[in-house]
Amino acid sequence: MSNQREQWGSKLGFILAASGSAVGIGNIWKYPHMAGQNGGAAFTVVYLVCILVVGLSIVIAEFVIGRRTQLSPVGAFETLAPKTNWKWLGFLGVASAFVILSFYGVVGGWIMKYVVISVTGGFKELAGDPDSAGNVFNNFITGTWSPIFFQVIFMTVCIWVIVNGVKGGIEKWSKIMMPLIIILLGMLAVRGMTLPGGMEGISFLFKPRFEDLTASSVVLALGHSFFTLSLGMGTMITYGSYLGRKQNLLNSALWVITLDTAIAMLAGVAIFTTVFALGANPAEGPGLIFVVLPSVFPQLDAGTLWGTLFFFLLFMAALTSAISILEVVTAYFIDQKGWTRKKATIRFGLVITIVGAFCSFSLGGGINITAFLGMSFFDFMDYLSSKYMLPIGGMLTAIFILKKWGVNQFMDELKSGMNKMTISKNLITILLGIAASIVGFIILIEIFDVLFGIKLIQ
Ligand code: TRP
Repeated sequence: MSNQREQWGSKLGFILAASGSAVGIGNIWKYPHMAGQNGGAAFTVVYLVCILVVGLSIVIAEFVIGRRTQLSPVGAFETLAPKTNWKWLGFLGVASAFVILSFYGVVGGWIMKYVVISVTGGFKELAGDPDSAGNVFNNFITGTWSPIFFQVIFMTVCIWVIVNGVKGGIEKWSKIMMPLIIILLGMLAVRGMTLPGGMEGISFLFKPRFEDLTASSVVLALGHSFFTLSLGMGTMITYGSYLGRKQNLLNSALWVITLDTAIAMLAGVAIFTTVFALGANPAEGPGLIFVVLPSVFPQLDAGTLWGTLFFFLLFMAALTSAISILEVVTAYFIDQKGWTRKKATIRFGLVITIVGAFCSFSLGGGINITAFLGMSFFDFMDYLSSKYMLPIGGMLTAIFILKKWGVNQFMDELKSGMNKMTISKNLITILLGIAASIVGFIILIEIFDVLFGIKLIQ
């Protein structure tokens, strides 16, 4: 296909771009509230096991497939298994990108709105009053045009980064934003820990409470390990396809999972220490970020500054993830259809923005789209992708390597860039096998529940 395929400029640039994809709303918003509600350290231990057993092997798998074929998912599977149905696994990835980015872009818009509210001192009147903060949030997201306005800005920034290319767009911005995210989160965590009573937040997050850990928390941890590492839709295949043979893929994958996990924990520390120090409700769940924090920050000295820094870093995290989702779509049209980067990105960025607008409308701001299963269109897109599309994509990727492409071929590609082989063929086979089986089991649980109302686990 294209003979002047773009490449990452440096090893570090690639690692920061891939971890920029991984570190997103999932780390800063989802992980802290999930851990808070599902047993603290007990949840974290399960989550770490999932990351190490299932996550790591699939990150490596995606990098290897991408680098070997130098193509995004559809072309990659077509090259490794010509004239078979495996290319549909690539199409599943492109479809997942549409589904995920449509609602992710809406949440990106909410975050931008919160940066604006915070900068303009809008949190002040919410100090110590989560109920009012809740009203502000609900009124905003159920409005018709205001959320769309911010979503359009967020998507425009994404499109702009992607139009600038792999090195000049994705890599450049990841190299700026990832260090900033870490520094700002670090500052917030230190601020939180030094507040009187802040350390109680640490014990809430890190003390194991096994009584709160149910079987469904385990399922949650597994699903989240996919989402947080951006797995199952070929994001890492696409990023891997811009690599040369010298990159050590095992090493890179270890960096990505370490940074992703460390940043999730750091976010947990920053949030819970502050919430505890000011006596707010830690078990608020999903409302933690948009409802509890806006009522907590203004109670700190220089609260406007802290609030703004927090939402700004969240914006950067969301952006480096959203661009990786858009890149999967763009790369498909470049690789398979021969389009220019600009044409592919602008056209499909626009389509995704329009679908996203309907996600936003479905929350109450207009057309009341109650999709299948009695959910809003917004929730349905989230449900469809995180419960089915990503796990199925991840499971099939593991099966593809085990059954179709072959572990020997896989090891051959993995070797390139490694001085000595530090991971054995048997270990990879076992990890991929476990990954495929566990994920398959989880998908079955969900299907039994939805189709027959049978709960295989409680
Ligand atoms: N990993 C990101 C987060 O934690 C979200 C994300 C980016 C993603 N690209 C993805 C999720 C691809 C699934 C698939 O917020």
